[in-house]
Amino acid sequence: MSSNGSIGVFDSGIGGLAITREIRKLLPNDNIIYVADSRHAPYGEKTDAYILQRCIAITEYLISQDVKAIVVACNTATTSCIEALRERYSIPFIGTEPGIKPAVLNTKTGIIGVLATPRTLKTNSFSSLADRVALNIQIELMPCPDLVQQVESLQLDYDSASEVVKQYVLPLIDKGVDTLVLGCTHYAHLMPVIKRIAGPEVRIINTEVAVAKEVLRRLDKTDLNTTNQGLATTKFITSGNQAHFQQQVDVLWGEGFDVDVF
Ligand code: DGL
Repeated sequence: MSSNGSIGVFDSGIGGLAITREIRKLLPNDNIIYVADSRHAPYGEKTDAYILQRCIAITEYLISQDVKAIVVACNTATTSCIEALRERYSIPFIGTEPGIKPAVLNTKTGIIGVLATPRTLKTNSFSSLADRVALNIQIELMPCPDLVQQVESLQLDYDSASEVVKQYVLPLIDKGVDTLVLGCTHYAHLMPVIKRIAGPEVRIINTEVAVAKEVLRRLDKTDLNTTNQGLATTKFITSGNQAHFQQQVDVLWGEGFDVDVF
C-alpha cells in the first residue's frame, strides 16, 4: 500500500457521501474513490452472507484501483461484516457504527432512540455495542425500512419526506427519547427534516465527523499520509444506473463531477 494511493469509500448507495464530504475537508490532498453499490441497495433488508459477498466484490475492485485504506461508510455493512473483511484483507478498514456512546453521554432522560436499518439492529455487533456502552440507559430501537429508498430517490425536502419520517420519529419522542442516533448513513441527508420533526429539545447524533477523524488517525498511525500537494481527485463509481447516480452526485456533492460504473 502506498501513501499516495487513494482512499476508498463505499456504501450501498449515496449515504456515505456525507462521510466523504467530511473526509475531503480533513484530507484535502488525498484522492478519494467513492463506490455506491446502488444496484444492490438496500443492504438493510439483505442477509449477512449477501452483504459480505457484496463487500468482498467492492473491496476487490477498490484494491485493483490502488487504494491505501477502505472506509465502510455504511452502518449495515460495518455491523454485519467488517470483522470478516479485516480477517480476509490486510488493508486498513475504517467502519461506521451507530453513535450510541455520544448519545449515552448526552441523554438527560436516560432514554435514547436509534434509527437504523432492520439488518443493523439485528446484528450481534450492534447488540454488543449497546450492551457495552449503554448500561442503565433505555434504548428504543426503530428499524426504518423505507428511509433508504426515500433518500436514494432524492425525496429529501420536508414536503416529500415528512410523512415517512414522522412515522419513525414521533413514536420515539412519545417514549421520552431526548437523543436520537442516526444509525444509517443515508439518514444524514434527511437531517433537516428529522430535526424539524423531533423538535429543538432532541439532540440528533450523527457520525460523519467522527468517522472522518478516525480515517485521519488511522492514516497517521499506519504511516499512510499522502505526500501529494495541491488539488486531489474525487471519483464517483456506481454499480447501478449511471444517469441516476450522476443526478444524485450533482444534488448531494455538486455539479461538474463525472460518474462511472463498475
Ligand atoms: N447507508 C447504509 C447504512 O448506513 C445502508 C442502507 C441500506 O442499504 O439499507 O446502514
